[in-house]
Amino acid sequence: MRIQLNYDLGAQNTFRMKVSCAYYVEYETVKELEGLNFERLPKPLLHIGAGSNLLFTKDFPGTVLHSNIEFIKYVDVGLEEVPVMVGAGVVWDHFVSETCRHGLWGAENLSLIPGEVGAAAVQNIGAYGVEVKDIISGVVCYDLQERKKVKFTREECRYGYRDSLFKQPENRGRYVVTSVLFRLSRKHNPKLEYKGVRDALEGKEPQTPQEVREAIIRIRRQKLPDPEELGSAGSFFKNPVVSREDFARISPDGSAPHYDLPDGTVKVPAAWMIDQCGFKGATEGGAAVYEKQPLVIVNASGEASPEEVLALENRIINGVRERFGVTLHPEVEHI
Ligand code: EPU
Repeated sequence: MRIQLNYDLGAQNTFRMKVSCAYYVEYETVKELEGLNFERLPKPLLHIGAGSNLLFTKDFPGTVLHSNIEFIKYVDVGLEEVPVMVGAGVVWDHFVSETCRHGLWGAENLSLIPGEVGAAAVQNIGAYGVEVKDIISGVVCYDLQERKKVKFTREECRYGYRDSLFKQPENRGRYVVTSVLFRLSRKHNPKLEYKGVRDALEGKEPQTPQEVREAIIRIRRQKLPDPEELGSAGSFFKNPVVSREDFARISPDGSAPHYDLPDGTVKVPAAWMIDQCGFKGATEGGAAVYEKQPLVIVNASGEASPEEVLALENRIINGVRERFGVTLHPEVEHI
């Protein structure tokens, strides 16, 4: 266990905001977590993963908690389906790379997403036609309110687009994910429907999850900034869902990219709207709209302040609202 006072969070958020917290606790086991004297920790409490989907808007006055619970346990029962239990502190892409190496299908489309396993299950990360809920069968948490271990089935997690039970306002700060149970498969099962995935495979029919992983990595490297090189928190906004009538107004000839959802509504890529408004490359101080994927705001100078990021965010929201009458909502969690 590691405890630090007035801790610099610069390395704990991929946006590289220069902020600090009053108290920082990093634990290695569930026992250590359970043994913490929560009454005495400075409030509020904030549990983070790799800090890859957060925007710290100022110094944090309370306690930041981080899990180093790291294990990957294959519950191999000789079946087609392979349950895998994974500690919340495992780096997400380490898990994906391991399971692909073992020839297990399920996680390959989620390659190279920054973050850790616990946060992935909270946020329901998704990319290239797959969401993590598709391969989760259960989540184990420590309930800070009742002070006990609780297990949730996938259904109980109430997963939605970048949403879950754990993100509901009434549960804020209540559950700490300690491990996640995945269900992967030995059966050949590539998911190649998302635009661009087949192209990245260059006409080859993939035989292994590793081949799909490599294709996804190629796409991501072309479009998304490497957090090691350029600070960001991935997609800054969610893709808005609008009614059919609104879509007809947004794009009278229907040529705008869109996805029809089963309930009759339409998802329109925020990247397209931001692009149409001419925001690619727009800056506010050290913050900029990423040229290759305008859904991403980057810390271009390495010195961008939270105020600059927020100013750019507001400019984009206002610009898109004026042009399309749609209000974008941030995907990145503001702290
Ligand atoms: N587009 C433009 N201009 C651009 C870029 C994109 O018009 O400069 C349009 C294109 O029509 C493109 C569409 O936007 O087809 C969608 O772009 P993309 O396939 O890159 O996906 P996205 O909807 O912008 C989402 C996720 C990403 C995920 C990709 C791939 C959200 C908020 N973002 O982005 O997730 O990697 O799909 O599946 O749902 C993240 O959450 O941090 C993230 C990176």
